[in-house]
Amino acid sequence: MKRILVTGAAGQLGSELVPALRGRYGNENVVAAWRSSPLTGEVADTGPATQVDVTEPGSVDRAIRDYGIDSLYHLGSLLSVAAEANRSLSHLVNINGLLNVLEAASGAGLERVVIPSSIAAFGLDTPHDNTPNETLQRPTSLYGIAKVFGELMGNYFFERTGLDVRGVRLPGVVSWKVEPGGGTTDYAVDAFYGAIREGRYTCYLRPGTYLPMMYVPDAIKALIEIAEADIANLKRHADYNVNSMSFEPEELAAAIRRRVPGFAMDYDIDPLRQYIADSWPNSLDDTVARQEWGWRPDYGLADMVDDMYENLSRKLAQ
Ligand code: SER
Repeated sequence: MKRILVTGAAGQLGSELVPALRGRYGNENVVAAWRSSPLTGEVADTGPATQVDVTEPGSVDRAIRDYGIDSLYHLGSLLSVAAEANRSLSHLVNINGLLNVLEAASGAGLERVVIPSSIAAFGLDTPHDNTPNETLQRPTSLYGIAKVFGELMGNYFFERTGLDVRGVRLPGVVSWKVEPGGGTTDYAVDAFYGAIREGRYTCYLRPGTYLPMMYVPDAIKALIEIAEADIANLKRHADYNVNSMSFEPEELAAAIRRRVPGFAMDYDIDPLRQYIADSWPNSLDDTVARQEWGWRPDYGLADMVDDMYENLSRKLAQ
């Protein structure tokens, strides 16, 4: 991994993964790819950036060729709620775009491709507590269907073309640098903005809705560690469960109240997001990732809330 292309570099994960990779592999060696609006801030200022439209066959090939890319992180995608709002665009980006990336990577003989999967790859029929790595999936959201497509295509490309495709099933990610957009788990980020700005937040999921969640430094760590793991230890490809914490809205509110006394959470349930959340696991069993490549998260709920509160308060005060 000497020259890395990251699609979706402007997003919630990309904006944190690109600086982390630049710190590791050198600023010039990590190319940040954007699709609709040019990058700004840290990601734009610290290294190369280029426009890549994954829905257009040829666009990824060009970036690989122009920048001498040997490895790729494909983060560009429409999150769960955004995908339901535009089925054909979600098909173009989340399914055709993924296939274009894999074809381009395989055609150019790339060393490695990392594609994050998600808790969305599971469905209503999946055991919800401590969901095992290997289980019935059958997702009911378009985003989840595309994630299963990615997991299966990762296996397919590995077996049929030798392309080394890897990935983890990420929980909902909590972060402060760039806000997520169009996801079901976004409430856990929005609650901090509400708490710091107004001391209150109206949650669109019901109390008692448990979901696996992860603080962004752990998500970035998982993406880098799976990419760098010794292949001799890996028995799977793009579908490793990674877990760190699990909470429901009332528990998050109580944890935030330690930093914002009097913080009030009330509820106005959004049926679509509730339906999607109810189909996802409550918590993940990540034994396989722990055994095969040494996965261990650093943050639990209390540490995450402290760090989130401090960083977001500083950002919003600027
Ligand atoms: N955070 C994503 C979403 O809510 C799940 O992977 O769509």
